[in-house]
Amino acid sequence: MAKPPRIAVVGSANIDLVTFADRFPKAGETIFGQSFDLGFGGKGANQAVAARLCGADVFMVARVGSDLFGPATIQNFKKLGIDASYVKQLGGVSSGVAPIFVEPSGQNRIFVVKGANDLLKPEDVDAAADVLKTVDCIVLQFETPLETVYYSVGFARKHGIRSIVNPAPAQTVDMNALTGLDYFVPNESEAETITGMPVRNVDDAKKCAEKLLSDGIKRVILTLGANGSLLAGRDGMEHIPAFSVKSIDSTGAGDAFIGSFAVFLAEGLPEREAVRRANLYAGLSTTGVGTQKSFYDRARYDSEWAARGKS
Ligand code: RIB
Repeated sequence: MAKPPRIAVVGSANIDLVTFADRFPKAGETIFGQSFDLGFGGKGANQAVAARLCGADVFMVARVGSDLFGPATIQNFKKLGIDASYVKQLGGVSSGVAPIFVEPSGQNRIFVVKGANDLLKPEDVDAAADVLKTVDCIVLQFETPLETVYYSVGFARKHGIRSIVNPAPAQTVDMNALTGLDYFVPNESEAETITGMPVRNVDDAKKCAEKLLSDGIKRVILTLGANGSLLAGRDGMEHIPAFSVKSIDSTGAGDAFIGSFAVFLAEGLPEREAVRRANLYAGLSTTGVGTQKSFYDRARYDSEWAARGKS
C-alpha cells in the first residue's frame, strides 16, 4: 500500500461557539437562538482534521492559550492521530475562540478572537523545521500573523515543498511575500476584499482570478460555495461545479475543501480531479452541524465518491 501523504498545517486553532438562530439581532435587540453547539474549530485545525480524516499523516504547528480550551485542543489533535508535538501552550493569553451565528439556510457569520494564534511566530516554524522539511505540503491561513505565513511560504519554497495559502479572514496581502506559493485558495468574499473586485458569479470570479494571477500568484482556486470552484492558472481557467447536497451548516466547508484537496493532490491525483473530489468533500461537510464534527472520514467519503463521482 502507498505511504499516506504527509501534510503540515502551520495555523490556527479555535474553540467554536455556534448559535443557530432565525436571524441576526439588530443593534440593541435581544432575540432567542434556536440551539447552541460547542466544538473544536479554527481554520488551521479544521484543515488539519480534514486532511487527517482523509488519511494523511498530519503535523500541526500552532499556539493555544492557558485557559480550559488549550489542553482540550491539544487532546483533540492527539485523539484524532494528529501530531501535536509543535502545538505549544502559552501562559497569560486566551486560546483562539470563534462565536459563530448560523441562519436556517446554513449561511454563517463568524467572529474570530485570535488569542494565542496571534503569537505564532517564524521561530515556531524554525522549531518544527525537521518535520516540516519532510512533508508533501504545508497549509497556511490568515488567522496567525502574516509574517509567519510569509515566512512559511519562503520555507516551503526553499525546501521544494508544495504550499497552499487560504487567505482567511481576508486581509491586505503583500503578494511579493507569497512568491513561490503553489495555491492561493480564497472564497468569494475573501477574493473580493483582497482584489477590491466583486464576486457575484462565475464570470466575476474569473476576472478576480485574472487579477490575482497578474499580481504574481501561480494558481488560484476560488471556492464558490454551492457553485463549486474556479481553478485558474496562466494556462487557463475552469469552473468545476459543486455536487448537490442538502446543506444545513456551511461553517468549515472551505476548510474541508482545503484539507482534502491537499491530500488528494499529494496522493498524485491530477489537479482538476483533486478539486472535484474536494468539492464533494466540502459539500458533504455542510450536511452536518459544526465544523470538524461534520467532516467525513475516508471510508464514508469514498463510498459517497463511488456513488456520485462519475456523475
Ligand atoms: O472556517 C471556519 C472556522 O473559522 C471556524 O472553525 C472558526 O473557528 C473560524 O476560524
